[in-house]
Amino acid sequence: MTYSFNFCSKSAISLDEFVERIKSHYTGLDCLDRKHVNFFALQLQLLANNKYFLTDLVSDHVLKEALKIESGNSYGNDSWVIYVNKSPFFQVRVCFWHSDGEIKHQNDKLNVYRCLHDHNFAFLTTNYFGPGYISRLYQYDYSDELEEGCDGCLQSLGSHQLSSGEVIYYEPSKDVHLQVPPRAFSISLNLMFETNGNKQFIFDTDTGRILQTVTSSDAIAKQFIRELVDVV
Ligand SMILES: [Fe+2]
Repeated sequence: MTYSFNFCSKSAISLDEFVERIKSHYTGLDCLDRKHVNFFALQLQLLANNKYFLTDLVSDHVLKEALKIESGNSYGNDSWVIYVNKSPFFQVRVCFWHSDGEIKHQNDKLNVYRCLHDHNFAFLTTNYFGPGYISRLYQYDYSDELEEGCDGCLQSLGSHQLSSGEVIYYEPSKDVHLQVPPRAFSISLNLMFETNGNKQFIFDTDTGRILQTVTSSDAIAKQFIRELVDVV
């Protein structure tokens, strides 16, 4: 289930300090116990307390774009990966939440505001700017046997608003969520860890049945290697 951390520290750290602290304590998925997760959550909150790092990063990025210098950061539609650690894998991502996002993207199959889903990786998230988005939270028991059409037997955990000073930890292949647009533009920060190799699902919001299995590029690569070994 999701875990919520509340910290009262107003201290702030830079993105570089944040990355160094995570690198020095994170050794891989096995170390995601309560003590380490608490430490990582605190570091994310200290980074979120820094209200200048993101504007500095954007300014730097815009300047490099103008000068045609590769910044090393990558964009999604409404997200921005600002740091990737290759081994052990973790990444830091900024997400942008628009109050009118549900209306603007209502025909998109994977509209984040209409897509009830789980993740096959653990992550921590905190609010950085604005009132914060609301999540409808569920949990389920993962099984490799689950596929399209199966009942996910989702257990509702209610709604939750991601507010300032709070860090939420999502367990992989356990927590399911549906995002509700914030009442005003909001930004969240994520610290994301590597995948556990499980399937990832999209659920029907009315029935809780599995609508779609999301195959990650990692899973596709593993399947390809398995098939190659079978052929050879
Ligand atoms: Fe999600």
